Amino acid sequence: MDIRDKYDRVIDYMRISVTDRCNLRCIYCMPFEGIRPIGYKSLLGYEEITRVVTIAAGLGVRKVRITGGEPLVRRNLPFLVESISAVEGIEDISLTTNGQALKRHARALADAGLKRVNVSLDSLYPERYREITRGGDIDEVFKGIFEAERAGLEPIKINMIPLRGINDDEVEDFGRLTVNTSLHVRFIEFMPTGSRDLWSWDRCVSTEEIKGRVSKIGPLLPVKIRKSGPARYFRFEGASGVIGFISPMTHHFCESCNRLRLTSEGTLRPCLFSETEIDLKAPMRRGSTDKEVERLLRLAVQSKPERHSIPSEQHVDYLKPLSKIGG
Ligand code: GTP
Ligand code: 5AD
Ligand code: SF4
Repeated sequence: MDIRDKYDRVIDYMRISVTDRCNLRCIYCMPFEGIRPIGYKSLLGYEEITRVVTIAAGLGVRKVRITGGEPLVRRNLPFLVESISAVEGIEDISLTTNGQALKRHARALADAGLKRVNVSLDSLYPERYREITRGGDIDEVFKGIFEAERAGLEPIKINMIPLRGINDDEVEDFGRLTVNTSLHVRFIEFMPTGSRDLWSWDRCVSTEEIKGRVSKIGPLLPVKIRKSGPARYFRFEGASGVIGFISPMTHHFCESCNRLRLTSEGTLRPCLFSETEIDLKAPMRRGSTDKEVERLLRLAVQSKPERHSIPSEQHVDYLKPLSKIGG
């Protein structure tokens, strides 16, 4: 069984934000003062999330990614992972994290059924990392990655957002990381979410430019990765790791979009770039049946737009921070 949207895309992937809180304040994601988090009672509970996943799996969802905010600030996450892995039909469950608390949780998450992790890391210099994240400790990220490897949470993907004049001089160093380690390093184009003060077209370093810079290391050989999501992957000759590019600002990947988002407040968001959301929490708390929840899931799938409009030089729509939508 699979579920298709109006444009014949198979929707088999659900991104679930379990909290909009975060233990960091990355300059590209949040304002200095942070963002007022939603109250605990407004968060979807673990049982409610598992119920949504169970119904979604009945419709053909096979992959789940847990995001935030920072998902590891929510208590007892392994319990949720375990409940989701037990859902019939779910084949892959992964986590996107900033790595600050990964060392402590990696083993328990793997034991609960987590398959792999993606870790945000925007500088290899401790002091710069601290500035970009407004207080993060890079050693914790390295320890977290090491522990995740030991727990078998692989491949480990590093998400790096090059920001011109801030960390873009490190693009080559990040590229080189893939030569001797098995890490997948992915460069993401800076999107106009949350931090209006920082974003500008000039600040955003395009995939094309990054490719040009890392090509100094050697030619980029295309790699085919099944179900690779929005990233396009390459490898340097003889390298153990992989290099990827996520290009929301310069290239659509909408034609291959396979995802639905469940926000921490319990709404379904059919597209990252559209403010449309469908509330699941209120109906579930009013006692709606599984059939009713299924109808709302189908509605969300049918509401997926064909594509978002690439922001143009003249017109930029600022989005809510990804910590609110689910990174
Ligand atoms: P896998 O390929 O399964 O490992 O996951 P992923 O790349 O979808 O997950 P991850 O959370 O690591 O996503 C990396 C980043 O890509 C996000 O933080 C966003 O910046 C961006 N991204 C992910 N999904 C979308 C999407 O649907 N649209 C857009 N524009 N950007 C996305
Ligand atoms: N542009 C691109 N990616 C972003 N993220 C957060 N804010 C932005 C932005 N403005 C992504 C990063 C991080 C994840 C949690 O959210 O990839 O790894
Ligand atoms: Fe937190 Fe991730 Fe946003 Fe950084 S990018 S502030 S780690 S949610």
